[in-house]
Amino acid sequence: MIKDHDSSPFRTSLLEENEGPGTNPTANPTMGEIISRRFSRRGFLQGSLAVTAIAATVSPIALLTAEKVHAEGQSAFNFEELEAGVDERHHVAEGYDADILLRWGDPLFPDSPEFDPTRQTAAAQARQFGYNNDYVGFIPLDGAADHGLLVVNHEYTNPHLMFPGIVSVVEKEGKKKLELKPLTKEQVDVEMAAHGGTIVEIRKDAGKWQVVREGKLNRRITANTEIEITGPAAGSDRLKTSADPTGTKVVGTVNNCAGGVTPWGTYVMAEENMNGYFSGELAAGHKEAANYKRMGIPEGAYEWAAHYDRFDLSKEPNEPNRFGWVVEVDVDDPTSTPKKRTALGRFKHEGAESIVAKDGRVVFYLGDDERFDYVYKFVTSGKFNPNDRAANMDLLDSGTLYVAKFDADGSVAWLPLVHGQGALTAENGFASQADVLIETRRAADLLGATKMDRPEDVQPNGTNGKVYVMLTNNTKRKLDQVDAANPREENVFGHIIEIAEDGGDFTATKGKWEVLLKCGDPSIAEVGASFSTATTANGWFGMPDNCAIDSVGRLWVATDGQGPKATGRTDGLWAVDTEGEARATSKLFFRVPVGAEMCGPQFTPDAETAFVAVQHPGDGGDDWEGFGRLSYYEDLSTRWPDFRDDMPVRPSVVAITKQGGGKIGV
Ligand code: FEO
Ligand code: CA
Ligand code: CA
Ligand code: CA
Repeated sequence: MIKDHDSSPFRTSLLEENEGPGTNPTANPTMGEIISRRFSRRGFLQGSLAVTAIAATVSPIALLTAEKVHAEGQSAFNFEELEAGVDERHHVAEGYDADILLRWGDPLFPDSPEFDPTRQTAAAQARQFGYNNDYVGFIPLDGAADHGLLVVNHEYTNPHLMFPGIVSVVEKEGKKKLELKPLTKEQVDVEMAAHGGTIVEIRKDAGKWQVVREGKLNRRITANTEIEITGPAAGSDRLKTSADPTGTKVVGTVNNCAGGVTPWGTYVMAEENMNGYFSGELAAGHKEAANYKRMGIPEGAYEWAAHYDRFDLSKEPNEPNRFGWVVEVDVDDPTSTPKKRTALGRFKHEGAESIVAKDGRVVFYLGDDERFDYVYKFVTSGKFNPNDRAANMDLLDSGTLYVAKFDADGSVAWLPLVHGQGALTAENGFASQADVLIETRRAADLLGATKMDRPEDVQPNGTNGKVYVMLTNNTKRKLDQVDAANPREENVFGHIIEIAEDGGDFTATKGKWEVLLKCGDPSIAEVGASFSTATTANGWFGMPDNCAIDSVGRLWVATDGQGPKATGRTDGLWAVDTEGEARATSKLFFRVPVGAEMCGPQFTPDAETAFVAVQHPGDGGDDWEGFGRLSYYEDLSTRWPDFRDDMPVRPSVVAITKQGGGKIGV
């Protein structure tokens, strides 16, 4: 099978941007409608919120610093803003170093082969850093801020950038396109080994981070790692396959987008666009047909089914029910079996950021990244025990999954997805909690959840007690789904919602919400952006995606999908004020090379290092003036980060530190 691709990035456009109208068929009110109503009412929540709701995980030192940096209506960020733009390199604000820490193919173990892109093998790739780094987490070792485990998701692969000799440029209807040869089985195997995650020990020596190749906890997780299925859906008939008649063991994890680190120090990986890996057809009238349609399965972007029956629906019709979960990895034991935690539901999971609530239960915030899909949270039944790690290891197997309904009066209700409650009954096709979780989206549809503009990362902030929801964009939202108060019928640039849970309690089933920021160029009135007037021409952004809260309680937003047509700037990392008069002021701190998306970000507990992940660099670039050609292995728009003629472009994690030391942006 020959695939052809136009100038838009291969697989990025197919999967990451989730082209198409979404798969949600219900008529629930859209977020746009609600935002419209919301903007038309009086009496917004106060934007300036004192540090009232304080989570158990925030240290007194962090609070003192937060108060200091938030004083007197000033921006909480102190750095000289970077200029927006595009070129072949990354750039960071003056006075900072941005050093490459880990590149695709870097050896992770003493026995790892050195990277040779012309002779890459699956065996080598399984011992090297994977492709398209997305989520980055830092787990301190021995409580140190300069020594720990870096955990990194490898979301997907770009064969036209990875493999030599597979691309030709063809002209079709007057337009140049990339045409790819079918991948060999060995190349598919390399792709599978380049997926998943990396756990690697790192240490800061003399101010510079180094990879510890001898680290005893170093590990690769791939699309071939054996994983246990746990929680209420484990053992369901709908999870049983010929290779696993128990419905409790699955080979591999894929499309690990954002993620999280739990309060007990495990690594969670969110399985997002798993539909792309499946091909083939279900038998006529198959009972999973409606379920798979709602998830866009099969999407068929990958050629794995040609070599592995488990990705072929005609041969293994239940296999797709075994993907789309949150995976938890015990990083303290490199031989441990990772677990797909079904209690957190099955959808296109973007991330899984968590916080300890006042009563000790743990709350995970979850986005389902598709147009018109939902925001969720999961509240554990059990309480976090800070003194007994082992006691926390199965907290993710029992609890309540909720979906968000945002109302026009500024309230949000968290609706429980519990079998037997409301419409989630046998009459509606849910015979058990397993069914509710396997078809989380359909269950949420029945509860009347609010259709959102592609929920990406959802981040609780323990310092101010709020939760930040990145809604990246939704160009398919029609005029009749918005009104004058939300003038972007096509939400090209996305927005950010801030939630304040009732009583500052993250387990609450009700809260208040408001729009922190509508993104896009604030100098164009029709765009309707709402950055503060202190935001400069470099400081605004579109398409919020991953985000982080640093240890002094400040919000940092990474973007995905900017470019010459949309914003005239590459993706990057922006510092966004949330408090006081500076609220909704944004400043550019770091930007990626041409063709890339900004992932990570993650700060060390001392706020002295920001790790950022440069994903799919060199994927595209032809639409930027001065690049002017399609980008592929032999003719790349950038050879970042090595800039060697014999090296392809390499997705990499970058460590940002202040020259001379100190906290970032303070
Ligand atoms: Fe993989 Fe929704 O970003
Ligand atoms: Ca994302
Ligand atoms: Ca995050
Ligand atoms: Ca995205």
